[in-house]
This record gives sequence, structure tokens and C-alpha cells, in this order.
Amino acid sequence: MRCMLIALLVAVASAYRDWKGVDTEWATHPDRTAEWYEEYAGGRRPELAPAITTVVANKSSVVKLECVGCPFRVRELHPEPEEWQEPPQDNSLLLNFTIDASSGLLLNGRSVAPLALPLHIHAFQVPANFSKDHMEKAVNLRLMDDSWNLGTKFGTFELQYEHTVVGTREPGKSWIQFDVTGILYTPQIYAKSGNGYYLLKNEDQKIVQILLRETAEPHQISMEDVQIIDRKDRAKPYRMECGRLAMARTVFNPLEWDRYGKIGTWSRAFYMLWSKTRDAFWANFTFLPILVILVPVIVLFRWMARKQQEVAVPVEDDAEAALLGSEHEDAPPEHDDVPGCHMEDEKV
Ligand SMILES: *[C@@H]1O[C@H](CO)[C@@H](O)[C@H](O)[C@H]1NC(C)=O
Ligand SMILES: *[C@@H]1O[C@H](CO)[C@@H](O)[C@H](O)[C@H]1NC(C)=O
Ligand SMILES: *[C@@H]1O[C@H](CO)[C@@H](O)[C@H](O)[C@H]1NC(C)=O
Repeated sequence: MRCMLIALLVAVASAYRDWKGVDTEWATHPDRTAEWYEEYAGGRRPELAPAITTVVANKSSVVKLECVGCPFRVRELHPEPEEWQEPPQDNSLLLNFTIDASSGLLLNGRSVAPLALPLHIHAFQVPANFSKDHMEKAVNLRLMDDSWNLGTKFGTFELQYEHTVVGTREPGKSWIQFDVTGILYTPQIYAKSGNGYYLLKNEDQKIVQILLRETAEPHQISMEDVQIIDRKDRAKPYRMECGRLAMARTVFNPLEWDRYGKIGTWSRAFYMLWSKTRDAFWANFTFLPILVILVPVIVLFRWMARKQQEVAVPVEDDAEAALLGSEHEDAPPEHDDVPGCHMEDEKV
């Protein structure tokens, strides 16, 4: 307990040192309301933040994605327990898409192209009427950077998403479609109260679609276009010569993963057994004989599980059917792994 208190004080002190003299009130204090502007500013309300803020052309953009029907978490300066607003005010998620020369395309600091599961991505939730002025401050102070260490009035959520790479006929160019399909506050709160998990199923919910261009010599990646579009308007894949569609889809639901892996898979079961045994070993050396027998078995199974993962094909029938739309519904795509038939842009 005392340790925790000291850790907390140290964190507060270091945050205080970092933020002294910087205006952060926009991130911590309540906003002025429409009524305030009515009464004191002759009804002139601040300009709203645009849906897309270009930070560095072709390299970095912050998307304010409307989160249709999402619950809104109210955080106040002197916290009572946080509450869920009823009914929730319109709100948006802040998504920072930035090209990183060494790792590809990052979303809120995590690599989404290339993408490897499990990939936990968190996003701030802001009111839908977040002002342009506050957006500029958020960008200048790098609210979505890992270095941001100040508590804010904005709640954060983990994202559940569907991620699709759609190849184009132009070499080096591909679409990255990022569809937030759900938001999760924490698995613990959700398990306890049923609150804090919401699926973005509304038909007006939009997705982000980014046109990436990669050149080989010199190696460079850039964002040619950033769009916020309806799910039905997303770019469709073309069919490659071998008959497969030039696309790869990945879905991620944070509730299906824990620190051992994807729930219900063999690799997780063995990893869990392995790490529990390891912990038990350090806690109690008498486990040694059991370990001598278990370790080779686990190593073998982990190897088999990895092999099994390697052969998994990332492209799914239903995703393709959905993307293709009605005109192709009766012609399900072929999946035989024809040699030389790979989506070129899969490894952006
Ligand atoms: C922003 O939206 C909230 C919730 O709808 C509202 O209470 C507030 O007055 C709005 N602020 C401005 C400046 O319009
Ligand atoms: C990115 O680059 C392309 C040309 O390669 C250009 O047409 C486009 O306007 C640029 N986008 C931004 C946001 O600067
Ligand atoms: C966006 O992400 C990049 C890469 O993680 C980071 O360097 C940058 O500071 C972030 N921008 C904002 C506005 O937080």
C-alpha cells in the first residue's frame, strides 16, 4: 500500500514537472457550454474541429471519427466514481495515423501496417463538438503520443476492429481500411457490470480508409489519401489472375484475448500451462521432476501450434463476399493457394 502511494506521488511529481507552465486546462477542465456562449459571447460558438486534421502532409493525420451511439464516460476533476452519461452526448474517437519510417503505418502508436495480432489499440473519446482550437492544442502537445502522461477529462477505450488491406492494380499502392467495430472500457468493468462495451453497428457508422503508397528505392511509405466513408462505400478488391481477391482481412476483439493468447486456442492453453508452471517452479522448487517431463511436451506443442498458425490463410470467404457486394454473392471466390498468387501489398 505504502509502495503504491509512493509510486503515485512520484508519477504525479514527474507529470507536474513535465507539464508546468503548459496550458493543459482544455484537457482537464470542463468546456464552456453552448449556454455560456449564448450569454457571454453573443452566441458565437467556437469553430468545430474538422474530421481530418493533417499534421504533416502525407505523413501524419488525426482523424476524429464519430462514434455513433457510443456510451460517454464522464470524468471530472474531483472524481466521484466516473459515470456513464444518460443519454450519452454525441462523441468521437481520436485516431492518430502516422507513418513511421522504420515500422510502417502507426495508429495511436501501434503498427497497423504491417499488423500482427494481438494488437491492442486505445483511443481517446472526445465530445463530438470538440473545438478546432482544442484539436490544435491536442496536436501540438501530442495527446495521442506515448509520452503523454497527464490525466485528462477524456476517457480512453480499447478498440475492437476489422482491418482490411485491399490491393490496387497499381504496384505499391494499397488501401488500409480501419473499421472500429466496438469499444471496450475495461474487461473487468464489463464482466462485473455489463457496462463499458459497445458495438458500433449503427448503419451511419463510418470507417477510415487510407491509401498507402510504398516505394522500394528509396524505401518510403506515404499516405496519399485519408478518407472517412460509409462502410458500404469502401474500395473493393479486384480479382487477381489466379482467381483470388487482392485483399486480406484481420479482425480483433480484445475480449477474445488475454495475456496468454487468443481464448480457446491450443497455443494459448499451452502457453498458459507453460507460464504457470514456470511461475510455480520459481515459487516452489519441488516442482522440478514434473517440469522435467512437462517442458519437452510443452515445447513440442508450442512448436506445433506455431506451425498451425503459419498455415492459417488470412483471407476469409465471408469478408470477401461482404466486400464484393450483392452482384458477386452467388460466385464465392476460390481460395486454393496457387503458387505465385499472393497479394503483393499484403506485407506493406
Ligand atoms: C457541446 O455538446 C454538449 C453536449 O451536447 C453541450 O452540452 C454543449 O453545450 C456543447 N458545447 C458547445 C460549445 O456547443
Ligand atoms: C499526398 O501526396 C499526394 C501526391 O503523392 C497528393 O496528391 C496529396 O494531396 C497529398 N496529401 C496530403 C494530405 O498532403
Ligand atoms: C501521433 O503518433 C506519432 C507516432 O506514434 C507520434 O510521434 C505523434 O506525436 C502523435 N501525434 C499526436 C498528435 O499525438
